[in-house]
Order: sequence, then structure tokens, then C-alpha cells
Amino acid sequence: MSAPNGLDALPIRSELRGRTPYGAPQLDVAVRLNTNENSWPLPAGLAESIAAAVGAVAGGLNRYPDRDAIALRTDLAGYLGHELTVAQLWAANGSNEILLQLLQAFGGSDRSAMGFTPSYSMHPLISLSTSTTWRDGLREADFGIDATRAARAVREHRPDVVFVTSPNNPTGTAVSLETIEAVYAEAPGMVIVDEAYAEFARPGTASALALLPGRERLVVTRTMSKAFGMAGLRLGYLAADPAVVDALQLVRLPYHLSTLTQVVARVALGYRDQLLATVASVCEQRDRIVSAAPACGLRAVPSDANFVLIGGFGNSGEAWQALLDRGVLVRDVGIPGHLRITAGTSAETDALLAALQAITETARRPARDGGESNP
Ligand SMILES: Cc1ncc(COP(=O)(O)O)c(C=O)c1O
Repeated sequence: MSAPNGLDALPIRSELRGRTPYGAPQLDVAVRLNTNENSWPLPAGLAESIAAAVGAVAGGLNRYPDRDAIALRTDLAGYLGHELTVAQLWAANGSNEILLQLLQAFGGSDRSAMGFTPSYSMHPLISLSTSTTWRDGLREADFGIDATRAARAVREHRPDVVFVTSPNNPTGTAVSLETIEAVYAEAPGMVIVDEAYAEFARPGTASALALLPGRERLVVTRTMSKAFGMAGLRLGYLAADPAVVDALQLVRLPYHLSTLTQVVARVALGYRDQLLATVASVCEQRDRIVSAAPACGLRAVPSDANFVLIGGFGNSGEAWQALLDRGVLVRDVGIPGHLRITAGTSAETDALLAALQAITETARRPARDGGESNP
């Protein structure tokens, strides 16, 4: 049982007082398009291969895992290419833990971090939890980052850590390598390019992995939660200069990555061709959602990710509820008039578009039909 006054009665750190935990609602509804998971079924044979691999190591669980996860990091380097070596790869329980370790090593109470908002809200939250001061850098009206203005903001604030999310969550916007180079050239500290959605980028969108040679303060973070469809596994990773990996070993908890996680991630990497085959299907559904938005009187932000930010809702909170009432769960990311919608299977897109049609039709119907409510 919790204390009568709950958190207020505890000597909790002052910056955490009054805060609520991060997290989208996990509701049991038919169509869940709110957390950018991959809805497509896992390939045939993967579950059996995972079970066999877990069975093979289960008898050795009395021992701690490989603390350095060498075999897994070697496989991850092979997946990323770009002539990366095991010394340049690091893995943790989701890219959120990678981001936490980066801030534990490079942020702190006398330091600041900057990101270009709206962006992934865990960047400021992890900064908060490591007592790192947060500074907002701005995006343009189309949610892109202007290289000159971004470089000026970095020059002005001199943050110890800069986040660039590309493709960006929640807007889907990819950032050019020129912009990342411009930010890096001005940044006195670390530049973290969060590429959680990289595999969904449209052709012609380059990864910041290409910029790593010669840039020892640049970090590219990735995850198996999205394109690989393994959100439940909790496996994130980064590529950077070997010295960055050395720095993270100073802050990571001993044996942070369980034997089971390492083994299952390696099996999933072995199935990469089958797993990543769903990326094209997800992108097709994303493009369907983008194309269908105008017919509902809505505006879709062009997306390089597995979700679409849609604007034009009179009241995003009411629209979110109206979609939920029709069995479709999406994300209200706090941008007025906008909702973020994950691209899932074709059946999920059918259900989503039918629900969007229904709620926007109600909104557009003349008042005498009783349709005055505006989603
Ligand atoms: C931009 C971005 N980075 C990182 C993450 C964290 O992913 P995970 O911890 O599942 O690897 C997310 C999750 O939604 C994200 O959107």
C-alpha cells in the first residue's frame, strides 16, 4: 500500500516532484496504432528458432551473461555495414537505455542538452533524470531543421549534448547530412543522431552512419523495436568512435544485457531479411494514410518513418477519443490539431481510414444534421 500522501510524502528529488510517468496508454483495442510498433506478424520459424536458442543457453543461466556482449555487437556491426567494427558498437535494453547511458556519461548537473522540438519526448525526460539542463532548439513550420539556424542555436547555447532525431518522432521528418554536419561543426560536445526509424526512410535519405569516420563526438543510435518488429525484446544499440563505447562502459550497470536478450537478438538478426521484408509493406500503408488524409479534410506531414503526423483536427483530444470509440488507438502527442498514427497492416489501415472518414464526416456535416462537434 502506498503512503497516504503518496509521492508528496517522500523525499523525492525536487525536479521529479509533480511529474507523471512517461507512457502511452496500453489499451486492449482492436487496432493499436499508438506506439510505432511493427504490426506485421513475425516470420515463420522465428519463434521456434528463438525457443531453441533459449533452450540451448537456459542451463547456463546460473552464470552472468557476457558483460561485453561481444558476439551480439559483432553481429550488429555486420548488419549496419559502413565498415564498422565491434569496438564501435554498443548494445543495451532498448535505445532508451542507450540514451540514458549517453547522458550519464556526457550530461550531468553542470551540463546541458539540446534537441529540436517537437521531437522524441524521452530526450528531455532522460536529460531531466540525469540532472542535465534541457534547451529547446526550434524546427521550421514544415518541421524540418534549417542548417544555418540550427548551427546558430548550438553556437549560442553551447550544449554538451545535441540530439538530432532523423527521421523525427512525431513528425516523420528526415534531416539531411548537411544539417547534421553543420550542427556537429558548431557543437562543443556530443551529437546524438537518433535513427530509431532509419529503415523506413524513403530512397535517397542517407544515414548519419556515413558521417562517423573522423567525427569522434558523433553517435548514431538505432533499435530493433521498430523495423525489426521486436519491441518486446528491448534491444537498442549505437555506432560511434570506440572511445564513446569505452565511456559508456564507465556508467553501464554490470551485466546489463541478459543472456536471453543477447541470444534472442542474435537469432532475430539471423532472420533480418525476413523481418525487414515487412518494411516495404509498412511504408506502403504509411503512404496510403498520407494520400487518404486530404479526402478527410486533413493534412499529413510527409513521413520517412512508420507513422504519419496528421493535422487539421479541430480538437485533437476529441478526435483521439472519437477514434478510440471506433476501436482505433492513436497518439495525441500534444501538438494542437494533430495526431500521430502508426502505419500497420493493410487491414488496420482500412479500419483507420474508415474511422477517420466517419469522424471527419460528422465534423463537416452541417449543424442541422446534428454534426456540430468538431474533432
Ligand atoms: C525517436 C525514438 N528513439 C528511441 C526510441 C526508443 O525505442 P526503444 O527503447 O524501444 O529502442 C523511440 C521509441 O518510440 C523513438 O521514437
